[in-house]
Amino acid sequence: MDVLIIDDDQVNLKLFARMLAALPNVTSITASNPIKALKWATVNEPDLVLVDYMMPGMDGLQFLERFRALPGKSSTPVIMATADAQTDVRYRALQLSANDFLTKPVHKTELRARVSNLLALRQTQVELARRADWLAEEVEKATAKILAREREAIHRLARVAEYRDPETGAHLIRLERYTRLIGAMLGLPQEELDLLGQASPMHDIGKVGIPDRILLKPGRLDDEEMAIMRTHSQIGADILEGSTSPLLQVAAILAITHHEKFDGSGYPHGLKGDAIHLYGRIVAVADVFDALTSERPYKAAWSPERAAALLRDSCGSHFDPQCVAAFFAQWDEVLAVFREHRDT
Ligand code: C2E
Ligand code: SIN
Ligand code: SIN
Ligand code: FE
Ligand code: FE
Repeated sequence: MDVLIIDDDQVNLKLFARMLAALPNVTSITASNPIKALKWATVNEPDLVLVDYMMPGMDGLQFLERFRALPGKSSTPVIMATADAQTDVRYRALQLSANDFLTKPVHKTELRARVSNLLALRQTQVELARRADWLAEEVEKATAKILAREREAIHRLARVAEYRDPETGAHLIRLERYTRLIGAMLGLPQEELDLLGQASPMHDIGKVGIPDRILLKPGRLDDEEMAIMRTHSQIGADILEGSTSPLLQVAAILAITHHEKFDGSGYPHGLKGDAIHLYGRIVAVADVFDALTSERPYKAAWSPERAAALLRDSCGSHFDPQCVAAFFAQWDEVLAVFREHRDT
């Protein structure tokens, strides 16, 4: 352990250093100039400081005040050496959180005892600090693990719906890509883009609650069947809502809003314009484009150009114009995703 000794008297310095040489594991660093000692302490971590009060230029109290202000030095043990009569000095030193005093002339037994005690305290401090660092690291690791598991559980939840729905895994991938393309073009920050992209495969999770005779019907739905089909938005929200997980919160927003239409003619709430969460307006474009360009039990796959024409025609009625514009602004990327992730 490093003990920094500051005394303007070279003889005292040597004397203190020799007294401490008898203690195991102690290295003395001596300084006759308190300013130089402060400089040393800004780049080194002394385990204990022994400072004389009476020094020309900068006295022990001034040194202590500036030493305590250095980063990481608020609890380093400090012993101040004073003359017996200087009670007021001792009070002020205590206010600046000196840990102990020695009365000059200093006796070696007393010096060693006090230094040993404070070094033991220092040892405990350092170990506690190390343990706190270790714990913080462990918490960070555990948190990363929990987040990864959360993401995995959520992706598996999305796959539950996938198994019942004629829609394929490729649809979920394309939907996520289209969603990210639009969100990025609209300037969403990366963190939000990731949440939105990861949540997008769950927008139709409510379809697990739709009977097979409707979900898998190989033809057009009649009005009554369509009414039941439309409950998938609310079922999805019921499954996903009320979570503390940001990812599930975004997924819940998508479930309840992705069939709302910009002019208020959508479902389940008939929300209009900005009253529909931006995430829902984004996914509506991505979802319909992908539904149109995919084969369904009730329809053949459309070409991307025919689907684009429908988006353009429904711009402002079904879709938010800024989301449609963001989609078309990246048409080449859209086509690349379409070609790369075909249904198998
Ligand atoms: P989905 O197949 O993923 O379609 C999502 C949305 O894309 C539809 O929402 C609709 O806005 C649009 N879309 C899909 N196919 C077409 C189409 O051929 N023409 C036009 N103009 N738009 C289309 P929507 O209508 O609320 O339907 C929600 C879900 O209900 C669909 O998801 C699908 O699973 C089911 N569905 C809708 N209509 C039928 C149908 O006639 N027969 C069957 N079996 N299922 C249907
Ligand atoms: C330090 O001051 O160097 C670390 C914290 C402590 O041991 O009190
Ligand atoms: C299209 O209209 O087919 C593509 C979309 C566009 O480039 O505007
Ligand atoms: Fe849907
Ligand atoms: Fe879908």
